[in-house]
Amino acid sequence: MLLELKDIKKYFSAKKDFFNRTLSYVKAVDSVSLVIDKGQNLGLVGESGSGKTTLGRVILRLYKADDGRIIYRGEDITHYSHSEMRPVRKSIQMVFQDPYSSLDPRFTVENILREAYRLIDDRSNRQEQVAMMQQVLGSVNLPGDSIYRFPHEFSGGERQRVAIARALIMNPKLLVLDEAVSSLDVLVQEQIIRLLKDLQKQYDLTYLFISHNLRVIKKLCQKIAVMYKGKIVEMANRDDIFNNPIHPYTRQLLLAAMKYKTSSNDIQFNIQDNGKLVDRGGGHYVLE
Ligand SMILES: Nc1ncnc2c1ncn2[C@@H]1O[C@H](COP(=O)(O)OP(=O)(O)OP(=O)(O)O)[C@@H](O)[C@H]1O
Ligand SMILES: [Mg+2]
Repeated sequence: MLLELKDIKKYFSAKKDFFNRTLSYVKAVDSVSLVIDKGQNLGLVGESGSGKTTLGRVILRLYKADDGRIIYRGEDITHYSHSEMRPVRKSIQMVFQDPYSSLDPRFTVENILREAYRLIDDRSNRQEQVAMMQQVLGSVNLPGDSIYRFPHEFSGGERQRVAIARALIMNPKLLVLDEAVSSLDVLVQEQIIRLLKDLQKQYDLTYLFISHNLRVIKKLCQKIAVMYKGKIVEMANRDDIFNNPIHPYTRQLLLAAMKYKTSSNDIQFNIQDNGKLVDRGGGHYVLE
């Protein structure tokens, strides 16, 4: 088991009174439990505002969970201190939707990659560093001289490759990709998905692939978790989700995906506040 989440909660205060006391909460993540096994990519799907990004950020400890536990490679990292988190931070990397805002536009690719590289190796000289950077750029199919260029000098797809290269330099085990291909056109999406498959073998990676797009998730993920209003409503192997969806929300998502609509915010579903994920057989979990 690579990662296990147990009853993770993350609430944000939505309304405050005059004395700055919280009046109501947004339950962005509400008792989420899941397991990610090594080499078994998990696709996390759900409409806008369902809590996907918040969950990703909790895993990276960019947000502190209000409740629950995070077990990574057998260690309970929930309350790790900043220094205890250091090796974990390298081992779990995140790639975001818009690399243009996550890559500093004032830096060349060399500087962007060096910032990451410094965290794992501060002894090599520049020549060795550049060789290493060019090797990583090669593995995301970018030419070695990309190091001299700035983020705005790349296409969207190439920029996302730079962001992936920056994550890879840390030699991570788990890569959280948050809508990483969503802003790219379909052909470029395909290229990046193919690249991610190759990299997975080469670098022994596991992906948590966050997307509102089931078509894309289907291509890369063996397991799928469906999130709605902060809760996982259904989780199963890819084929079980596609061939035998049980929760009405999952069915709605699948219908929307077939019609090539990207969202299904139009219908509301009732979910129990204290619902539990129940195994309907063969690891096909449904919220009841
Ligand atoms: N920093 C924050 N402060 C307050 N509320 C937040 C914060 N971050 C997220 N939220 C709220 O938590 C809920 C979940 O947001 P989140 O960004 O995790 O959704 P998402 O599934 O990633 O959506 P999208 O598909 O649009 O990226 C939303 O209602 C959002 O408004
Ligand atoms: Mg998001």
